[in-house]
Amino acid sequence: MTIGVPTETSPGERRVSIVPVGVAALVRTGCAVHVSAGAGGEAGFADASYEEAGALVVPERASVFAEADVIAQVRGGGANPDSGMADIEQLREGQLLAGFLEPLSAPAEVKALSDRGITACAMEFIPRTSRAQSMDALSSQANIGGYKAALMAAEYLPKLFPMMMTAAGTITPAHVFVVGVGVAGLQAIATCKRLGAVIQAYDVRPAVKEQVQSVGARFVELELDTADSEGSGGYAQAMDEQFYAKQREMMARVVAENDVVITTAAVPGKPAPVLVTEDMIKSMKSGSVVIDLAAERGGNCEITEPGRTVVKHGVTLVGEVNLPSTVPHHASQMYSNNIVNFLKLMIDDGVLDADVDDDIVQGATVTRNGEIVNEQVSALLAGNG
Ligand code: NAI
Repeated sequence: MTIGVPTETSPGERRVSIVPVGVAALVRTGCAVHVSAGAGGEAGFADASYEEAGALVVPERASVFAEADVIAQVRGGGANPDSGMADIEQLREGQLLAGFLEPLSAPAEVKALSDRGITACAMEFIPRTSRAQSMDALSSQANIGGYKAALMAAEYLPKLFPMMMTAAGTITPAHVFVVGVGVAGLQAIATCKRLGAVIQAYDVRPAVKEQVQSVGARFVELELDTADSEGSGGYAQAMDEQFYAKQREMMARVVAENDVVITTAAVPGKPAPVLVTEDMIKSMKSGSVVIDLAAERGGNCEITEPGRTVVKHGVTLVGEVNLPSTVPHHASQMYSNNIVNFLKLMIDDGVLDADVDDDIVQGATVTRNGEIVNEQVSALLAGNG
């Protein structure tokens, strides 16, 4: 059985799906691994390291698709809007594709995968159970995104983060407000804290309050009815527009008094809720910074420009859509651990069983042998999503 690691082609993507250590782990299970030449180059993993780990480095990317039984990608199918479809056209019946596939926002790509008889596993759908933690790529990459958001905020802010008592005077610490405290938000708080800022945070899920306090930030209490805010798997539910309007109104004062706002509020499969309006941006001090980690889903800030960093009303608005890719070495290392652990669930003695009776494999599988097997995706395709 051969596992293929093609070079990523999504614009700006610097990660690689499997790093040399992951190759060695797969070779030990009895598999061959084919890697396209240069696939790990931007992440700091040279072709020679792949060869040392036991991979065959293949000059042509297309040969990886032609020869492998399993294709491992970071961004495949709908997660690569530019050339994900072209990759799908290179796949053949019976092959397995694993990677971020954005199945809930790219139904056309899911349909194409099922039409071609591919078994497709979306890393977004790895269930959030204790046993699946080592495969949870959303969390491993969100952690890096949160870290990098804090660093970018410190970089753009024309102020220091820590308090400094110097002979040249006392500098007060920067004030940071984090909205949405999942994996990325918690890491953003922890990193801002290490840099010396004073942090406040808010999340609709009441259970988060204790976590916010445990990493040294103050939880902002808003008088909102959040009893229904938590859905399945620990994720937030979408609330109605009336709720968001009230939330914006109550957050306005907090946004105005902070130097940095980091937003990470997401609801799986839905556009990000707008929580920071243009008027709220106008109320911020000149030089303030907003890092909108929800930019890829439209953004939590009304005037974020996805993929760009812009200055509006004197405020720097960062709408970068792929922060994990800016730390490609460790982002790839973590992603590789996730995907290799996942693939190992289906491999026994060098033989792949994509139908294995395992809740993690079943949970992540979107299409199997020409059939769409995920209910949420089927409903979406039928127009009921
Ligand atoms: P996410 O990336 O889906 O969303 C980020 C955060 O935004 C969430 O905490 C969500 O509650 C919050 N949010 C949504 N709408 C909001 C609004 N209007 N205002 C303020 N905040 C809003 O979140 P992520 O990182 O996926 O984490 C979600 C939960 O799942 C967390 O409790 C996390 O600890 C848990 N989790 C559990 C795992 C496991 O059990 N294996 C693995 C990873 C995360």
